[in-house]
Amino acid sequence: MKPVKKITKARDIKKAYLEFFKSKNHKIIDSASLIPENDPTVLFTTAGMHPLVPFLVGQQHPLGKRVANVQKCLRTGDIDEVGDTTHHTFFEMMGNWSFGDYFKKEAIEMSFEFLTKVLGIPISHFAVTCFKGDNDAPCDEESAKVWLGLGVPEERIAYLDKKDNWWGPAGETGPCGPDTEMFVWVGKEDPPKIYDFENGMWVEIWNDVFMAYDKTKEGKYLPLKQKNVDTGLGLERVTSILQGFDDNYRTELFWPIIENIEKLTKKKYGQKNDQHYINKGEQCWVDVRKKMRVIADHLRATVFILGDERAITPSNVDQGYILRRFIRRTIRNIRVLGVIIEKVDLLPFIKQIIEMYQEDYPLLGDKKDFIINEVSKEQTKFIRTLEKGLNKFENIASGKESNHEKISGQDAFLLFQSFGFPIEMTIELANERKIEVDVKSFNEEYEKHQELSRKGAEKKFKGGLSDASEETTKLHTATHLLGEALNNVLKEDIKQRGSNITPERLRFDFNFDRKLTSEELKAVEEEVNKVIEAEMEIVRAEMHLKEALDLGACGEFGAKYPEIVSVYTIGKNVKKGLDIYSKEICMGPHVNNTKELVKFKIKKEQSSSSGVRRIKAVLVKE
Ligand code: SER
Repeated sequence: MKPVKKITKARDIKKAYLEFFKSKNHKIIDSASLIPENDPTVLFTTAGMHPLVPFLVGQQHPLGKRVANVQKCLRTGDIDEVGDTTHHTFFEMMGNWSFGDYFKKEAIEMSFEFLTKVLGIPISHFAVTCFKGDNDAPCDEESAKVWLGLGVPEERIAYLDKKDNWWGPAGETGPCGPDTEMFVWVGKEDPPKIYDFENGMWVEIWNDVFMAYDKTKEGKYLPLKQKNVDTGLGLERVTSILQGFDDNYRTELFWPIIENIEKLTKKKYGQKNDQHYINKGEQCWVDVRKKMRVIADHLRATVFILGDERAITPSNVDQGYILRRFIRRTIRNIRVLGVIIEKVDLLPFIKQIIEMYQEDYPLLGDKKDFIINEVSKEQTKFIRTLEKGLNKFENIASGKESNHEKISGQDAFLLFQSFGFPIEMTIELANERKIEVDVKSFNEEYEKHQELSRKGAEKKFKGGLSDASEETTKLHTATHLLGEALNNVLKEDIKQRGSNITPERLRFDFNFDRKLTSEELKAVEEEVNKVIEAEMEIVRAEMHLKEALDLGACGEFGAKYPEIVSVYTIGKNVKKGLDIYSKEICMGPHVNNTKELVKFKIKKEQSSSSGVRRIKAVLVKE
């Protein structure tokens, strides 16, 4: 498509988007953290709807039924596709939501108006897809009719099945529904008359999801209480399209990074294939452009994970492991592009990305030192073992240490454990040599190891808590008291929305839509201290989840609990059922008597996200 003259810079597109939806009576909300706190089924926030699930299933949003934002998202499911022109791990997604308010017609009309009127995308370059229908939900003729009414010709409307035209749930269960997806022709030549979903020159830019279903654990689709709209418009793609590119990396969101990679590697992005000698004179073909894209993508994701409000540091588990893989894969890819390992340094890139993005995300600037320090530590650690690991890989691959065609799961795991090679790096190395890796058995080895380390942790736990953990235990109990006191003082159904405890302090997030007054904070603090002074006992019992709920035990909002749970009861004489103060589903651990807490003090009360407040508190010894 020819560049569109109207609005073309990413920052202006975001602004125009939010203004447009403001004019359509939407309230603008902040981007939530990249790290979801209350959903153990996913590691990162993968879409704007993710933090909004409670409101899609019926909870009232404090700002009303229409909201819009630009959300930081991260998807690792597409990691193998990163390196093409349109997929990224980290990306920014603009979205608007209706919580049981407008539905298909209005949502589609607004999307169309924004794309064609505000952004100026010509309808000649436009196509859509709608849900074809199956046993779970009918064909979405309603959406197709709206598109036709707006002037989209019939041959530019395709009906596809669940694989393509259904979105969600974000985790394993929850809100989902049929969607209608919008495509723009990015080819230089004129678009074909008929839309063909297999032609890659049609790029998807926006997705309107009609979330009217709730997917259950058993895989059933039940109707939701309310009919919602959830939309997602990828910033990188729309920017690239408006600037007339068929490659997101050509936009200002990536291009300065690519230019620096070119400088460092002395290679040109335009160059498709190049030849390199990788270790021991083995000749391999490397797609330079693809490697550069992966490097730019992973570096940007690294900055945003470390620069998140719930920053994660590199480790061998969960989000930390993903981050570690991003950093390590980047280092290796830079090396593959011909840079000797002594010259590989990610820090100039990291600084550059912080510069590029801190205006929109000031937290990146605030956390600059932390981000740089963490990347620096990780790269030093990895570079130390990389050469040795590559030698080991060569030995394995050339059959010196194994006769198999495939690299075995054990060998891949050895490379992971002793040399810190993430699995996709081993796969990448193997691919370059046209060898396969037994990923299935690697995963088995990996899980076995996780299992062992978990058992190790449990043993340590049983063996007695260390000093630091005693502090943590006390703060766990203090968290229960705080939750209860907030309920009593604010006289609202306060639910935990997140909790984070270090040996020094507790941090408690809860639903409430305004700042607490100093009187309220004082009253909460006093109530907690009264319970501490009352020397209440704490008793743990194990029971079925249903029984716990029947007994009125409360839990964390949106948490998924196992069938059997432990319930902690705090009261004057719990065994006799007298003067019960609180009852909560919790994994613990807790102290035996509230008097161990001595004195409770609130340090800070602030907003955490929209409709959620955060309290930080400590225990003092007097
Ligand atoms: N959740 C949908 C998506 O990610 C729409 O926002 O595409």
